[in-house]
Amino acid sequence: MDQRPIGVFDSGLGGLTAVRRLRQLLPEEDIVFLGDTGRVPYGGRSPGTIRRFAEENVSFLLERRVKAAVAACGTISSIAPEKLLGRGIPICGVVEPAVEKALALTEGRVAVIGTEGSIRAGAYERLLKSRSPECRVLARACPLLVPLIEAGHTEPEDPALTKAVKTSLEEIRAFGADTLILGCTHYPLIAGAIRRCLGSGIRLVDAAAEAAEKLTTVLSGRDALARRDRPGELHIWVTGSAGRFAALAGRFLSGPETLCIRHTPPGRLENEE
Ligand code: DGL
Repeated sequence: MDQRPIGVFDSGLGGLTAVRRLRQLLPEEDIVFLGDTGRVPYGGRSPGTIRRFAEENVSFLLERRVKAAVAACGTISSIAPEKLLGRGIPICGVVEPAVEKALALTEGRVAVIGTEGSIRAGAYERLLKSRSPECRVLARACPLLVPLIEAGHTEPEDPALTKAVKTSLEEIRAFGADTLILGCTHYPLIAGAIRRCLGSGIRLVDAAAEAAEKLTTVLSGRDALARRDRPGELHIWVTGSAGRFAALAGRFLSGPETLCIRHTPPGRLENEE
């Protein structure tokens, strides 16, 4: 048994998809979430910058004494997996759990969408190909989507979102994917708009939810789950505006709880080292 909290981090709202799944799977666990909203989006930044941000995020969570973490960010998981290792706690990225799920679901045509950084790094594609050489794979970057999601455009019929999704997924539609990896953790928040574009038959893989499941298995294998007779607490830290984040976060986290959201400046992350 380990009563310490679980950490979850991302550049912004996307990581909440992992939080949502963890709270379903492990309702008694305390969770500390860090959304680096002061520096979102990560997707167009250089690999060196993303590596540094990943390290800073993990350091911030370690200061809050987390026992394990989900790197709920496709960009970090694709570009800086080595920064998630060797910090003394288990840290699950999203690439491998998402690939495993996609290969379990597909009939042979898998598409991946993610940020420019993730797709350029090629981690999803490489792993899909090495685990299943016969699988047809198409990976495309969708840089229009994260800024829209962070600005609150998430409703399936939102006109700006519908237009951006249609443009972004044109080649995926033509490819005829049967399974689509939502390789950026922001994208499950617009699953409705994606299904409207690709049809309800498409199998969607929520990378962050898969990583949350993987972490659950890891913790239970180490006998490191918490036990308490009350629901776990959720503490949210953001490096941008807490008020703005609260307005959007409430939409994605079900439950009557009042969200406890605090601000920490990005500079504070930099000083954590
Ligand atoms: N949600 C993140 C990802 O999964 C980052 C998106 C961004 O900051 O560009 O890639």
